[in-house]
Amino acid sequence: MQSDPAKIGPEDPRLSVRLGPLRLRNPILTASGTFGYVREMAGIVDLSRLGGVVPKTITLQPRIGNPPPRIVETPSGMLNSIGLDNDGLEHFLQVHLPYLRTVPTQVIVNIAGKTADEFAVMAERLAEANASEGGLAGLELNLSCPNVAGGVDFAVDPTLTAAVVRQVRKVWPGPLLAKLTPNVHSILPAAQAAVEAGADILSLVNTFLGMAVDWRRRVPVLGNVTGGLSGPAIKPMVLRLVYQAAGRFSVPIIAIGGITTIDDVMEFLVAGASAVQVGTANFFDPTVSMKLVAQLPQALDVLGACSVSEIINSIRRP
Ligand code: FUM
Repeated sequence: MQSDPAKIGPEDPRLSVRLGPLRLRNPILTASGTFGYVREMAGIVDLSRLGGVVPKTITLQPRIGNPPPRIVETPSGMLNSIGLDNDGLEHFLQVHLPYLRTVPTQVIVNIAGKTADEFAVMAERLAEANASEGGLAGLELNLSCPNVAGGVDFAVDPTLTAAVVRQVRKVWPGPLLAKLTPNVHSILPAAQAAVEAGADILSLVNTFLGMAVDWRRRVPVLGNVTGGLSGPAIKPMVLRLVYQAAGRFSVPIIAIGGITTIDDVMEFLVAGASAVQVGTANFFDPTVSMKLVAQLPQALDVLGACSVSEIINSIRRP
């Protein structure tokens, strides 16, 4: 797949990164579910500054999502139980994709299916649309939504993870990202399954299962009882997972987990990530990703580094 120069340039050679088959002008992306379908953010964020964007997960059929309340603030974090509310694949193809083709940054579409077959049907349809008119730089498999009943959290089981990735790999020729769950004893078996089945990149990680309680009324706060925890509260746990996976696998990793400041970005890059997705921070500062890009060169200077690539996975391992 040829990279569109409008989506990766103008390249500052210090900042550009290559994640296997995926090229980005810099390692800062926005995470799925925190940046709408991009159009909503275009008046606030200069998209040409970002490495890439990941729109909200789409499913084959439209979904109304979970009952409210669906969001709760927690100390240094946020619980969500949206339930994959979205208008479905056809709506995406007809309404969102034509717009996304015009945005001046890499677009990675994120999909979830109820079965491996459903993932493959969606991936094939997106591959056809991309072959004729382009617009998508990669496909991220949401194997890890914690808020939907009925087998959608595939990454808790390495066999299911492999089945989905393998089927999608047959029909999607471009960069393939597997977004894994932290809600397992060890992330390594699912990561290995995804890599062996053909994933090019690991997206680490989705949210941590949690809940909030209204003790006065003696009820769970979220309509769906449980939700996924994101934000700065989870960053140390995600750092550990990224560090662990980068020590084991040679595929590139995109870190997702509470990234808010340039220190967070640098910590993840040094610990083994080749790029990061900024998520929850978009809700309190929608321009945060742009600011992080602007701060990167100075942070590289602190390390005396000539490029982002030079510092990726440069941590001293005991
Ligand atoms: O509930 C949701 O829509 C969240 C999705 C996810 O965390 O992948």
